[in-house]
Amino acid sequence: MGQLGREIIKDVDVKAVIKELKAAYADEWLAHYNYLHAAQVATGLNAPPVASMLTTRAADELMHAMRLSERIQELGGALPEDWAEIPKLSNTPKFVLPKNTSDMKGLLKAVLKAERSAITTYQKLSNMTRHRDTVTHELAEELLADEVKDEEHTENLIGE
Ligand SMILES: [Fe+2]
Ligand SMILES: [Fe+2]
Repeated sequence: MGQLGREIIKDVDVKAVIKELKAAYADEWLAHYNYLHAAQVATGLNAPPVASMLTTRAADELMHAMRLSERIQELGGALPEDWAEIPKLSNTPKFVLPKNTSDMKGLLKAVLKAERSAITTYQKLSNMTRHRDTVTHELAEELLADEVKDEEHTENLIGE
């Protein structure tokens, strides 16, 4: 990051911000993988629309990971080199699919858990950086808004 870009970051523990960004980065990669996997294993009459929605959403989560990777590196952090580090960095509870692959409600409930975990992560990141690191703050708010939409959309599909 450039000189002025560094100077405008004030009173914030940059290492802690990088740590949180890396956790979010890992969460997004896992969401990307888990949603695609769920889309591919879903079976039954009701599977196609859910699989199609999850495939689109998996692509959105990958975009989130890319946005986070830029900011991690701008702040001087390093991306994990080994995929095996990703689950260790993640904040999200394990993604557990229902045993019955035609149980769309169960599948969507697993997705909902991941979305809610992302909301908590971005809320934390937003609070950590407010008035201190504007660029990270704006990124956290933007991704937070996406995850809030994802949560609502998933809740509506579950319909409880
Ligand atoms: Fe995301
Ligand atoms: Fe999401």
